[in-house]
Amino acid sequence: MHSGTSSKLAISQPGGAPAHVAIIMDGNGRWASSRGLPRLQGHRRGADRVREIVEASPDLGITHLTLFAFSTENWKRPAAEVIGLMRLFRRYIKKEGARLVAEGVRVRFIGGRERLDADLQALMAGLEAQTRTNTRFNLTVAVNYGGRDEILRATRRIAEAVRAGEMTAEEITPATIEAHLDTAGLPDPDLILRTSGEYRVSGFLPWQSAYSEYAFVEACWPDFTAEMFAQQVQGFGSRERRFGAVAG
Ligand code: IPE
Ligand code: IPE
Ligand code: MG
Repeated sequence: MHSGTSSKLAISQPGGAPAHVAIIMDGNGRWASSRGLPRLQGHRRGADRVREIVEASPDLGITHLTLFAFSTENWKRPAAEVIGLMRLFRRYIKKEGARLVAEGVRVRFIGGRERLDADLQALMAGLEAQTRTNTRFNLTVAVNYGGRDEILRATRRIAEAVRAGEMTAEEITPATIEAHLDTAGLPDPDLILRTSGEYRVSGFLPWQSAYSEYAFVEACWPDFTAEMFAQQVQGFGSRERRFGAVAG
């Protein structure tokens, strides 16, 4: 059921497309500031980039795309920026929702929901329900997502199951952990891409990325084009993934 740790460690020869690409969409603020614009203008431009990247994905051989939209640490930002970002998430779901439903995209959200406004939670749950049976493409959006928070919430649920006598501590396997993460049922990312020239992970998918390839591009997210995306996907195709084994 899960594609994580143990089941998928065969050496992969160069040439294949990454089935699952995860993107840290960074640099909206700097894009705006360098043009003398307010940061929120950068977030708006950033939100506008999402459709092109989603639509380019299936043609590149990608079946799963995961986008990091808001981290558990992003609440530290000024209230006006946080409110503006939440408004953009609402607008995205309202504006793009019908198209995603019609195009056969299954939409999932990962991250802690309880801190989000009730109406936004309802919009998210509604789009997930409407797209549950879609199979053409898988879009996952990380909102209030932090890898440590995700592992902590999973650990608590597993501890509860042990306390309730549903399993013993010895029965916990990597598959148990994967089944309790927000990404349960999703394959691990093959390629994780970050825009804006920052070389860090910022808490994105720490469990799932154990054997992911990374790519970093200098362009800020509002400047990231489908052509740049295709170039990174092609670059992935020339890598040999050994998963700890020795190449034949
Ligand atoms: C990424 O752009 C979007 C979010 C984190 C919400 P930033 O807002 O982090 O832009 P920079 O990194 O400050 O330029
Ligand atoms: C990571 O970007 C989170 C998102 C892209 C949503 P940040 O801009 O928040 O990360 P740091 O602060 O540079 O590590
Ligand atoms: Mg940033």
